[in-house]
Amino acid sequence: MSSTAHSSLTPTLSRMGERGQTLGPNRSIGVFDSGIGGLTVVRALMERLPFENITYFGDTARVPYGVKSVETISHFTTQIAEFLLEKEVKLLIIACNTMAAVAAQVVRDLSPVPVLDVIDAGAVAAKNGKRIGVIGTPTTINSNAYARAIHDYAPDSRIHSQACALFVPLVEEGWLEHEVTRLTAKEYLRPLLAEQIDTLVLGCTHYPLLKPLLHEVSGPGVQLVDSAEAMAEQAAAVLNEKGLANPGPTPPRYDFYVTDVPLRFQTIGERFLGRTLNNVHVVKW
Ligand code: DGL
Repeated sequence: MSSTAHSSLTPTLSRMGERGQTLGPNRSIGVFDSGIGGLTVVRALMERLPFENITYFGDTARVPYGVKSVETISHFTTQIAEFLLEKEVKLLIIACNTMAAVAAQVVRDLSPVPVLDVIDAGAVAAKNGKRIGVIGTPTTINSNAYARAIHDYAPDSRIHSQACALFVPLVEEGWLEHEVTRLTAKEYLRPLLAEQIDTLVLGCTHYPLLKPLLHEVSGPGVQLVDSAEAMAEQAAAVLNEKGLANPGPTPPRYDFYVTDVPLRFQTIGERFLGRTLNNVHVVKW
């Protein structure tokens, strides 16, 4: 594990803006999240785009964001996006639903490279639903960002949202099939199932790990939308369209920047990533 210090970014940003057209396919994709949950998106990207280099940033010192104010989240999001732009990434992916819900525009305003976010990707993937349930952190659900994004693609759909504050700690505890998690899921999903939803959007980085349990609780008639998988599809399309896809065959490099190494970091991170977590750098701000 290595440490890195962070300096002022403005000169680098303006240089990048001037030579934006020179962004090459071998540059990495910058992916960021409030913590390690965004590794579910990295995992989907690794599977869908096996030749792409990835630079990940997880704000493990300040997680969780899902209960913080819009101002604080916007401030943290700006810092992280600037950090990744300094690494000269070719694409920015907001893997955190909470950041995407309240600060996606902030990132788009400052970025000279394309910006994708999980909420837009999830909304596209959910657009064929008629009665759509959305679950996420309290900040994501209160922002109404998913409902707005889904209505852009499916104006006639009915949307029912539910904040599930307890899912993040349950997933981090590793209780993916635990009875407590099953009971919690039944309680959270009851109002959505009463509305006879046909689609359930997993609007938080942590929820893909609960897929088997959520599938069991919601029943076979409800299609689960995993925004991590949807994000990987969208990233592939954008890279191809812009001529930025890395053709390979050099093995990709993966770098993981975090602001803290909390207890059980390695175990939890590897559970999210589905493989060994190497090249971890600690950023000192
Ligand atoms: N990454 C957050 C999200 O997707 C969940 C964790 C947090 O609250 O920061 O909403």
